[in-house]
Amino acid sequence: MTAPGPPSTASARAVDTDRAGRIREEIDTLLVEFFELVEPMPADTCPLSVPLYGAEEVSGALTTMLDQNVTMGARVRDFEREFADFVGARHAIMVNSGSSANLLALAVLSNPSLPGALRPGDEVIVPAVTWATTISPILQQGCIPVMVDIDQNTLNLVPEDLERALSNRTRAVMPVHLLGNPVDMAPLMEFADKHDLWVIEDTCESLGSSVDGRMVGAFGHCGTYSFYFSHHITTIEGGMLVTSDDRIADLARSMRAHGWTRDMVQREEIEAANPWIDPRFLFVNVGYNLRPMELQAAFGLVQLRRLESFNEARRANAAYLLDAMAPLAEHLDFVTEQQGARSTWFGFTVMARDGEIKRRLSDHLEGLGIATRPIVAGNLAIQPAFRDNPHRTVGHLAGATQVGERGLFIGNHPNLSKAQLDHIIGAFTSFFVPKA
Ligand SMILES: Cc1ncc(COP(=O)(O)O)c(C=O)c1O
Repeated sequence: MTAPGPPSTASARAVDTDRAGRIREEIDTLLVEFFELVEPMPADTCPLSVPLYGAEEVSGALTTMLDQNVTMGARVRDFEREFADFVGARHAIMVNSGSSANLLALAVLSNPSLPGALRPGDEVIVPAVTWATTISPILQQGCIPVMVDIDQNTLNLVPEDLERALSNRTRAVMPVHLLGNPVDMAPLMEFADKHDLWVIEDTCESLGSSVDGRMVGAFGHCGTYSFYFSHHITTIEGGMLVTSDDRIADLARSMRAHGWTRDMVQREEIEAANPWIDPRFLFVNVGYNLRPMELQAAFGLVQLRRLESFNEARRANAAYLLDAMAPLAEHLDFVTEQQGARSTWFGFTVMARDGEIKRRLSDHLEGLGIATRPIVAGNLAIQPAFRDNPHRTVGHLAGATQVGERGLFIGNHPNLSKAQLDHIIGAFTSFFVPKA
């Protein structure tokens, strides 16, 4: 192995460390003062999400830039370790988005060096209602998405459809914990074990949700998370792949960063087998560049400590809304948690009796300052990107179509005030029970 030698980039160091320290303290004081000036939203302004970071996150991010340690390094490793501990996985590999985490998971599981790797033409079972970049990476690896229906009460895949989806090419299943509500993982894992399938849990909308006390994302071979601005925690953009499989982790670290051998456990072995190649630039996998920045990890370290309080607030908001809207049950269906599941309520979802009512309700809410969105993207099988590419569907996907037609969600974030919650309740009520 080559001696380490000088680093590829050198960080500038302030010579007058006392003065530098004082400036940093002053900046931190000013940041606290600045964020105290941020006004809460008025009651009649209810966007999907609001910035959930403050002085501490900005200070952490600034530190990376003032220290001039900006590309992936120690902070990313610290965040990965804390994140892995939090979800209960052996490894966490940070990337630059949740979409990248899905791409990396599928790419690693398709790496020919992995025993039982996916091959082009293999089928991957996935729910029809999810984000586009749950399904795109399946196609990008030359595999075939097999879309199953979702249950309108839980928004999660219909377990009975799993058996129906099977063919002799089925090699993986990708459950999606939609909008905070976790999939019942025990039967899914049993099904996957029985048929020897890879399990990739898309947990991008459900960080901190659990089933029987165990965090989702850590049940399968891979779990993926998004730290996009509106998600449970934010690193502005960012994502994470978790796994408890050492081989998957090693490949993920290599393929995240160009496919080179740095960070790989087997690095020395590979170097010894390729003595004619400079080990500093030794490429062993067909990789990408999906690396995050130190600035993002600095955000993540602070946000992760705040996650539980964020999620408790999301749960309390949902409980308050569900309770107050119970009298509207003849007009609306609400999402339910499965037994033993703890949802972290990414948004607050309702299903109207039909599409026409949903559209009018959406206009009414928007008119009162309450942002609405479809339930993710409805039935993805009808979206051109997937309709016009190889795929299979199981049954008629009636649940997915209904959710697309009748469902909407509004923002649910930890900073919603009681006044905003009451405004939301008033807006729903005035739509269904107009005053005489
Ligand atoms: C279920 C799901 N998967 C993947 C993603 C992609 O995450 P990102 O926006 O960080 O790329 C999202 C984004 O919201 C999502 O909702």
